[in-house]
Amino acid sequence: MSEARSYGEHPSELVGRQIAGYRVEAELGRGGMAVVYQARDLRLDRRVALKLLAPELARNDTFRRRFTHESRVAAAIDHPHIVPIFEAGETDGVLYIAMRYVAGRDLRQLLDREGPLPIPAATRIAAQVASALDAAHDHGLVHRDVKPGNILVAPGTDSDHPEHVYLTDFGLTKKSLSLTGFTTVGQFVGTLDYVAPEQISGKPVDGRCDVYSLACVVHEILTGRPPFRRDDDMALLWAHQYDDPPPVSAGRPDLGTAVDGVLAKALAKTPDDRYGSCLAFVAALRAASVRAPRRPAVPEPPLWARPVFRHQPRR
Ligand SMILES: Nc1ncnc2c1ncn2[C@@H]1O[C@H](COP(=O)(O)OP(=O)(O)O)[C@@H](O)[C@H]1O
Ligand SMILES: [Mg+2]
Repeated sequence: MSEARSYGEHPSELVGRQIAGYRVEAELGRGGMAVVYQARDLRLDRRVALKLLAPELARNDTFRRRFTHESRVAAAIDHPHIVPIFEAGETDGVLYIAMRYVAGRDLRQLLDREGPLPIPAATRIAAQVASALDAAHDHGLVHRDVKPGNILVAPGTDSDHPEHVYLTDFGLTKKSLSLTGFTTVGQFVGTLDYVAPEQISGKPVDGRCDVYSLACVVHEILTGRPPFRRDDDMALLWAHQYDDPPPVSAGRPDLGTAVDGVLAKALAKTPDDRYGSCLAFVAALRAASVRAPRRPAVPEPPLWARPVFRHQPRR
């Protein structure tokens, strides 16, 4: 089996096959550097999500080292909002990760279907991601690739907790490979919509780069768009480094202008000017959105009660 074949060039190719003790059942999704399958762990007879990384990543020594280190650290974090990792390893030159299968949608799909979300849902989702990120930071782990595609939204337990959010993909960022997310063969592998200025300029990063990325995600949850949209990647990288984000309240009459200040602080160009933690950002967001609505919020049905439409994934 060649590397490309074992990675799964074509969606159906691996279905029914066995990889490292897992039987591949269906493709769940693919990003620029990995394909995620629904699979069955044959030893424990349980469903898992099996992520197979692109063969070129397995050939990159820096990536392999970090993959091994960070999958260990991520596996050691036992947190309700971090997808539990069962196993990470290598077979036939392919790096794989087996993790809990999360039944639901990712936030990318949810935003593509729903558009901007009601403020209570936005803050609930942000708070769960923030608690996961702060826990990771406490373990000395920086996510580096917080984006809607890495936030999985499953049905929650009750009406007080309508959704349960999981963060995934620690340490798997393409940004460690190259600045612009292009692979060695020049293929674009991801989005630059959520990348912090210090990641772009190659400075050392800490948890505050995740505060920035989370703020980009929150901006998109509230407005339907990430803070910066530009025609090409260079212009987008420039905007992250030098441009002021547009106010979120402009298109949301139910949001007070206080929220603009909160987003501006979380999206500050210099990490020292941001909130010190993700939960501090979300606490400020919640306080600001409660304080000064320009128009009362309209009650919304829970996300899970809405009709489901087919969507075109956007990465
Ligand atoms: N543990 C999981 N359970 C269920 N689906 C998952 C899981 N992990 C990832 N997925 C799905 O697979 C898709 C592809 O994942 P990935 O290769 O990481 O690409 P990206 O993060 O760029 O979206 C995700 O967007 C998500 O919908
Ligand atoms: Mg992902």
